[in-house]
Amino acid sequence: MESKESKFRQIINNPLLLISVAYPYLLVFIILFGFLYINNLPSITQNKIPPILNDSMSVIKDIPLQEPRITSAVDITTLTKPTPEMLDKGKQLFTTTCSSCHGNEGKGDGPAGTALNPKPRNFSQVDGWKNGKTVSALYKTLQEGIAGSGMPGYDYMSAEDRIAIISHVRTLIPESPVDIPADITKLDETYKLSQGTELPGTIPVQASQKILLAANSVKKSKIEDVAKKISALKSENGLVSIAISDCGKAAASLVNNNYWVNDVMAFQTFLNSYLGKNGFNPSVVSLSKEEFSQLHSSLKNLM
Ligand code: HEC
Repeated sequence: MESKESKFRQIINNPLLLISVAYPYLLVFIILFGFLYINNLPSITQNKIPPILNDSMSVIKDIPLQEPRITSAVDITTLTKPTPEMLDKGKQLFTTTCSSCHGNEGKGDGPAGTALNPKPRNFSQVDGWKNGKTVSALYKTLQEGIAGSGMPGYDYMSAEDRIAIISHVRTLIPESPVDIPADITKLDETYKLSQGTELPGTIPVQASQKILLAANSVKKSKIEDVAKKISALKSENGLVSIAISDCGKAAASLVNNNYWVNDVMAFQTFLNSYLGKNGFNPSVVSLSKEEFSQLHSSLKNLM
């Protein structure tokens, strides 16, 4: 019988034998490594460089809070001959309001426009304008926006501000069309610019969300309060205990349809129209007239 040591020496001295002994281990290693590689393929091949796409939500500004108002009449001759102050103002307004989509030079390359389809208009583009490049067409675009695209309307903006913006936009349009007096007159007639324009009130989206949420939370706490009172009343008032099966549901439907408070008839209508869904036992319909009015006044006291 060969000793272990001589077997080992035999393997060392014969490289071919070494390979044949190591081969099964190598095979297992390759297979295991292959499995690991395939399992981790998504993270190995993942693009580690973040794409450059600005968050357009943070670029678009909220609309301002404004009362409905009539703006002062506009001197329509400024439409054709903008003053330097007007151009300055227009440029500023364009930068804060429009360039997020249209880019500072009006090339349609603003960061908020990258994900839009259709893309924001490149003002140096010759064809493909939907309303057009004349003053009246530009005014219409700002009044109504372009339906079915990301181009919003700016009817909350005063006529003066819009005309200032338009004057600046026209400096970004190569070969901007020459003004035709009839076009200006038509614009004035359509939008009554020289008489002053009536503007609707606006409220910032964020503020309106807050108001809605606040109104909702007031209602929610009212419902919770009524539900607690009902469940307390159930233990001392047999009628309420029979009539109401689910305190939370009953409280919600009582608070949300508060017309039932008015009189017993209205209460009866309320119970019938939501029977089985309003937290009341369907058997309430068989209560006597007196019981009905007792139940009504007990619940009314809770509100
Ligand atoms: C949220 C992005 C966005 C903002 C902000 C925006 N626009 Fe646009 N605008 C667009 C898109 C998108 C179009 C292309 C509409 C289409 O082709 O249907 C467009 C088109 C236009 C056009 C071309 C209309 C035509 O006749 O085809 C004008 C002019 C224009 N915008 C001016 C403005 C001005 C001025 C402002 C700022 C007061 C502004 N836009 C703000 C997205 C925007």
